[in-house]
Amino acid sequence: MAGPLETAVEIAREAGALLVTYFDRQIPYELKGSFDLVTEADRASEKLVVDLLSARFPSHGIVAEESGVHAGSSEYRWYVDPLDGTTNFAHSLPIFNVTLALEHLGEMVAGVVFDPIRDEMFTAERGSGAWLNHRRIRVSGTTGLDSSLLCTGFPNARRHRSINVHFYHQLAMATHGVRRTGSAAVDLAWVACGRLDGFWEFGLNPWDMAAGRLLVTEAGGQVSDMCGRPHNFSSPHLLADNGHLHAQIVEIFGEVFAGRYRVPLPVISRSSDCV
Ligand code: IPD
Ligand code: CA
Ligand code: CA
Repeated sequence: MAGPLETAVEIAREAGALLVTYFDRQIPYELKGSFDLVTEADRASEKLVVDLLSARFPSHGIVAEESGVHAGSSEYRWYVDPLDGTTNFAHSLPIFNVTLALEHLGEMVAGVVFDPIRDEMFTAERGSGAWLNHRRIRVSGTTGLDSSLLCTGFPNARRHRSINVHFYHQLAMATHGVRRTGSAAVDLAWVACGRLDGFWEFGLNPWDMAAGRLLVTEAGGQVSDMCGRPHNFSSPHLLADNGHLHAQIVEIFGEVFAGRYRVPLPVISRSSDCV
């Protein structure tokens, strides 16, 4: 019988195919918070994933974004984001994925991020490396922040309280650029395969980062909280990169936390200042 990773791959592929059928129909969205979107596709994908996981692993617990906690009787628990990148999806922007990860006693042991538009299946198993469509992947070798490409994200909920624009500005000034794809699991998968050199976001949920965090570490990268301390899975704030850049990014973060900006935010005093 297929093990947890193989089963997660099969389920993610099935859920991804379902998402694509909804994507092609351009379905409407609803709001679950002021700017927090949800669609029928989120719910249908989640039902498919939860039903298949429960049938295959009846004793495992499941934490799924839309339906919450499904208690289990074993030490294993799945984290499920049935559609990561809902805002993109709802606007017909083809950057989204379905992601699943398995936790055992506080450690992620297997994770999958499936991007059905590009047919890219990212997988990782603790201690066995990270893979993209059966090809081994590794983080980039970029050593200088000034030649790196980073990525970040901003929360949907309580977004007016986000402090990230300050970090965004400093890092945008120090690198080739900072992207914002709108899909945290894709961001982490792209760090794992070297397309991006690093990613950070404040206020993530466990299902956003469970699989992606494992992908990055299994691909040779480093994860931490925003101060460079080991990342505790219950912390919603995550910095993940290729390891070479970690200290340089944490140093800039420290300056921003202390209110010291290398490049001050420009002040607009007259319309003619806008260039
Ligand atoms: C969101 C995406 C986005 C990130 C948000 C997440 P959702 O997940 O991953 O990139 O910036 O913090 O909530 O709501 O599309 O599953
Ligand atoms: Ca998500
Ligand atoms: Ca989601």
